[in-house]
Amino acid sequence: MLVLGIESTCDETACAIVCNGHEILSNIVTSQIDLHNEFGGVVPELACRRHVDVIILVIDEALKRANVNLCDIDLIAAARGPGLIGAVLLGLNAAKTLSLILDKPFVGVNHVEAHLYGAWMSSQKEISLPCIGVILSGGHTALVLIEKIGSYQLISQTVDDAIGEAFDKVAQILGLPYPGGPEIEKIALQGNHLRFAFKSGTVKSNPLAFSFSGLKTAVLYQVKGQSPGKSIPSLLESDKSDIAASFQHAAFQDILLKTKLASEKYGCRTILFGGGVTNNQTLRTLFAQALPDYHLFWPSKGLSLDNAAMIAGLGYHQYLLKGQGDSLDLEAMPNLNF
Ligand code: KG4
Ligand code: ZN
Repeated sequence: MLVLGIESTCDETACAIVCNGHEILSNIVTSQIDLHNEFGGVVPELACRRHVDVIILVIDEALKRANVNLCDIDLIAAARGPGLIGAVLLGLNAAKTLSLILDKPFVGVNHVEAHLYGAWMSSQKEISLPCIGVILSGGHTALVLIEKIGSYQLISQTVDDAIGEAFDKVAQILGLPYPGGPEIEKIALQGNHLRFAFKSGTVKSNPLAFSFSGLKTAVLYQVKGQSPGKSIPSLLESDKSDIAASFQHAAFQDILLKTKLASEKYGCRTILFGGGVTNNQTLRTLFAQALPDYHLFWPSKGLSLDNAAMIAGLGYHQYLLKGQGDSLDLEAMPNLNF
């Protein structure tokens, strides 16, 4: 079954062709980093306009690279949320239009759920269930119990910033370009992670929940001192690297600890990771070293950051599980959750 997937929830316009939920024939992603860089974050109105400009080109390119024609496609899948409403609507309506023209079924997919499926489709090995899912993206940070594809229990999530958001904000404080995650990772490699004793937050009502806003504020105060009105001073490169390394260390130790607690609580030694922050090699090494007897599943290259292959892949399973496509009345859901 050939599935055409579309992703447009934030600042990537993407289209992929995936066979039977696993075999990626093409995976085209156009990023808008150049457009948003000068603003230090995504500007929703600009993001939507750029999606309009490139969506047809991206679909054409995905078909061309996969060497298939539109009439070969069996199912159209698109992310229906969570995300920026205008951006989601663009991709969703493109998918519905294709479905109508081609007279082929359409499914709307949860973008965050698809991030977890990214690790699933990257694996050649059987994944034993239930397992723990760890979502580490720019908009979401959560632990879920995965019973099977399409069946999840939310264990905990962040009560404030998402981990990727914290990386982006700390990068901004340090004067690094957007998106900040890869920049922080890069300079942290030269830094001393023990120099600053930063700590991630704890949540009284749920020890497995995350909180990163206090950590981000601690970095801000470290950089500019305690006085609230003071502007951010310029820093030595070595200080920046030490702050980045100490921040990253505090954030990742917290994620490791809570993931371990969740896996002990639910008796699962299999963990699936999803979201852009899983691109971070320091994170992957930390988990591999700390949990040598666990089965860790990471998204492969091209499936960590936002992409449409994960949407097409999960869309395939959703269609099989339901035995039919979704109605073309299916709405975009900017706040869609598990
Ligand atoms: O999953 P994603 O592509 O988009 C959302 O669904 O949010 O994640 C984007 C986030 C950004 O915050 C970006 O800074 C972060 O992932 N990110 C990283 C790295 N690469 C991307 N964070 C830490 N280390 C990285 N190497
Ligand atoms: Zn994402």
